[in-house]
Order: sequence, then structure tokens, then C-alpha cells
Amino acid sequence: MKNILFVASEGVPFIKTGGLADVVGSLPRDIDSRYFDVRIIMPKYACMSQKVKDQMEYVSNFYMDFHWKQEYVGIFHSQVNGIHYYFIDNEFYFSGMKPYGDDPKFEIERFAFFSKAALSILPVIDFRPDIIHCHDWQTGLVPVYLKERFQANDFYRGIKAIMTIHNLKFQGRWDKKEVQDITGLPDYFFTPDKLEMYGDADMLKGGMVFADAITTVSETYAEEIKTTFYGEGLDGLLRSRTNDLRGIVNGIDYEDFNPTTDRFIEYQYDEINFRKEKIKNKRALQKELGLAEDDRTMMIGIVSRLTDQKGFDLISCVMDELCQDAVQFVILGTGTEQYENMFRHFAWKYGDKVSANIYYSEAMSHKIYAASDAFLMPSLFEPCGLSQLMALRYGTLPIVRETGGLKDTVEPYNKYEGTGTGFSFLNYNAHEMMRTVRDAEALYYDNKREWNKMIDRAMAVDFSWKVSASKYQEMYDWLRP
Ligand code: ADP
Ligand code: GLC
Repeated sequence: MKNILFVASEGVPFIKTGGLADVVGSLPRDIDSRYFDVRIIMPKYACMSQKVKDQMEYVSNFYMDFHWKQEYVGIFHSQVNGIHYYFIDNEFYFSGMKPYGDDPKFEIERFAFFSKAALSILPVIDFRPDIIHCHDWQTGLVPVYLKERFQANDFYRGIKAIMTIHNLKFQGRWDKKEVQDITGLPDYFFTPDKLEMYGDADMLKGGMVFADAITTVSETYAEEIKTTFYGEGLDGLLRSRTNDLRGIVNGIDYEDFNPTTDRFIEYQYDEINFRKEKIKNKRALQKELGLAEDDRTMMIGIVSRLTDQKGFDLISCVMDELCQDAVQFVILGTGTEQYENMFRHFAWKYGDKVSANIYYSEAMSHKIYAASDAFLMPSLFEPCGLSQLMALRYGTLPIVRETGGLKDTVEPYNKYEGTGTGFSFLNYNAHEMMRTVRDAEALYYDNKREWNKMIDRAMAVDFSWKVSASKYQEMYDWLRP
């Protein structure tokens, strides 16, 4: 039996801001529990729902040296689907209204604290991992602290670390002197071959340098980030670690996302009866959101963080033109004010065609995956993307840009061979996107038989965790035979 510890800043069902939480919440369940004991450590945020907080039980507490003071470290525990979760409690660091997005310096300090605390609680919870699997910049200091100080202690000696990059855009970069002051790491860690990044300190870089293996969440993204366009300044380091870097595509939880049993949608359906049943969800959503109630109109869904990453400037450029077509857009998302207001504007301008839902709702997201005919995701970059996998699972055909995980998971329609599960375009160009949306419209309106066959294929592809979980297992075995 090998012990694997996930350290992450979010995870379903406790707290979620994006796909990272889906991965942390679902991947451990598909790792074979006969050979691996996977446990998870995350912060105990005040903004977690009362329901999940009520399920946690208090374990212990102690004080840890951090940032020139003794900081309180509380430990809570919860078990979900047989998996052990531990939570680091500290009201000073984790009391905000949301997990991230406030004062950037405080965020650096918060996750430096979290990373050190995650290592410190291990003897207390009596769990010695063979491998610590870290996720994104918030946990970048875990491999650093592990190698720098914890391995001097017998308990930690020989523990291996993996750094998984879910998004290279966010690196936890801050003034070198201040990071040194916060972390208490010695001078020689702040050189360009370790944490230093153009004069600043970079927590993700530290994690990558000190991890024994680096992964990211699709094969294409693993290649892309070795280039300057996608590399965010770390492409040189990634090229030099190319033998330690692999891409393993994400899956989704096939129980939580299952149109035959989904409790969030009104009309369940499967790969046999979708022709009759799926449309009932469209009718219901048109009614609920005040869109024109028409079975025939093609509905295009968008469920997303509203940020530059997701390609919304392409949409803003051609939305007026697209709204001249016989289509409806249903948007669900929150994020940058500019994009929130853009969708509010189009919803005001094209009332019965565009519905802008600027909030977060799990229930509404499922309704959109089920009701829409197509799902639009024209990302500038996309490490993996889970939304398009959810769309496929619900027989909603993705329209994507060929980048990162979108390229690896959506097979473009080929009318000559009768293959494909969606529509895609290559260049980050608004009119290329529009042409692709219009190709999809043409097929939808002029060749429903082909469209439905494509739904057959989309619902038949398997992006459950089965295959990818076994790749993680192989990696765990390779690191620690
Ligand atoms: P990212 O992690 O970059 O945000 P992913 O496609 O990997 O993108 O994952 C996004 C996840 O967040 C999906 O589960 C999606 O359904 C969900 N999501 C995004 N915005 C919302 C929202 N406003 N309401 C509900 N779920 C959302
Ligand atoms: C990040 C990426 C997204 C990926 C998710 C989970 O948020 O933006 O593409 O699917 O992490 O790995």
C-alpha cells in the first residue's frame, strides 16, 4: 500500500471556484484503493458552506513557527466516499468572503502558511505519505519546504513530490525580499535556478524546481507550455525538465455528471432516448429564463469563469453578428466586470435571444449542459477544460478552439468520414470562430440526422477518470517502486 497526499487550495464538495476543485474532488475516488491510500489536505475557509463545515470534526491544534511568530494551526477532518480530508484551520488566514482574489501579498502569505502547515500536521494525523501530490501555485512551497527543512527529520526523509500545473498563468509571484521574509527560507533559495523569477520570487517555479515530477492536465498543454507563447516565462525551465514533465488529461465524475440520473435537470435522458427527451430540458430552460420558446432554435450554452483565458474578446467582437442568426445564447458565469457587463448588455439588447446569468450555480450549470444544443468555449489557452467534457457527456456539441485539452478531447466534425464529436478552429480569430459557429448552425438546421449521429458519438466517448487515474497510478509507482 502506498500513501499519497494531495495538497490543494480547493476541492469538491467543500469549496470550488473552478475545474481544480472538480479534479481534486473526483480523481482520488478513482485511484485504486487496494493499492493507494489517497488523502487530501486543504484550507478550512470561513466561506465554506455551513453544511460542509458541520460535517467536519475537530482533531487537534498546535502552534507553528511562521513569519516571525507562532501561528495557530487547527486540524479538522471529514470523510467523504471513503476518502479522508483534513483541513487547516486558521481564522486570520482563511476568513475572507472567498478563497482568493483579495490582497495579493496576503494571498502569498496565506498559501505559504498553508503549505508549511500541511507538512507540519502529518505526524499529528499520523499519515506519512510516500508521495505528496501538489496542485497549482498555492502549494508550490510544499516541495520547497519539504526539501529545505522537513527532510532533516526522519519522518519526512525520502518523501517524493509531484507538482501538477492546472494553470501556468497563476504563479504566486511577489517581491523577493518580502517572500523571503514571509517564508523564512534562506538566501540561496532566491536565485534564478530556484525561486527567483526576473527579480521576484515565484512559488510555482519553486514547486517545479524541487518536485521530482511535473505534470499538467493534457498532453497538448504539456507541449504548449514549453513554448514562449504559452510558457508564461517558465518555458525554459519546462524545456529543461522535459523528461520529468508529462500531460495527463483530466476526467470528470461520471456519477455527478450523468444525464440519466441528474437531480438538477427536469427531464433525464440517455444515449438512446435523447432525441425525444433532451429537448424537454431546452423548453424548460427557455421558459425559466424568458427566452423565445421555440423547439427549433439552436441553443448555445456557455458556463465559465469570465476571464481573458476563455476567449470572450472573440465573442464580444462578433456577438452582434451572431445574434442576427437563428440562435439563442445562454451564459452562466462570473468574473471580470468587463465581460459580466458585456453579456448583460447583449441580454438587454437581444432579450429573447440572449440570457446572461451572472452568478454561480451548480444547478443552473447542469441545466445548461443538458438543455443546450452546442457549447461554446473559444479559449485563448486551456490547460484541460472540464466544461467541454461535461457538454459531451450531455450530448451537447462543443465548439472550441484547438488549444490544450480542448484539442485533445474534442474531435472536429469531418463530413466526409462521418466522424467527430464537435467543431473546432485553430487561430485565435473572431471571424474564424464565427465561421465555425455557423458551420455548426448549418449542420444543426440542414442535416439533423448527421447532427444526432454526432450526439451519439459525443455521448459514447469516455472521459471518466478510469484511464487517466491509471496513468497517475503508473506515475506513483514509477516514482516510488
Ligand atoms: P476552469 O478551471 O479554467 O475554470 P474548467 O472547464 O476546467 O475551467 O472547469 C470549470 C468548472 O467550473 C466546471 O465544472 C464548470 O461547470 C464550473 N463553473 C464555471 N462557472 C460556473 C458558474 N458560474 N456556475 C456554476 N459552475 C460553474
Ligand atoms: C484550470 C484550467 C482548466 C483545467 C482545470 C482543472 O482551472 O484552467 O483548463 O481543466 O484547471 O485541471
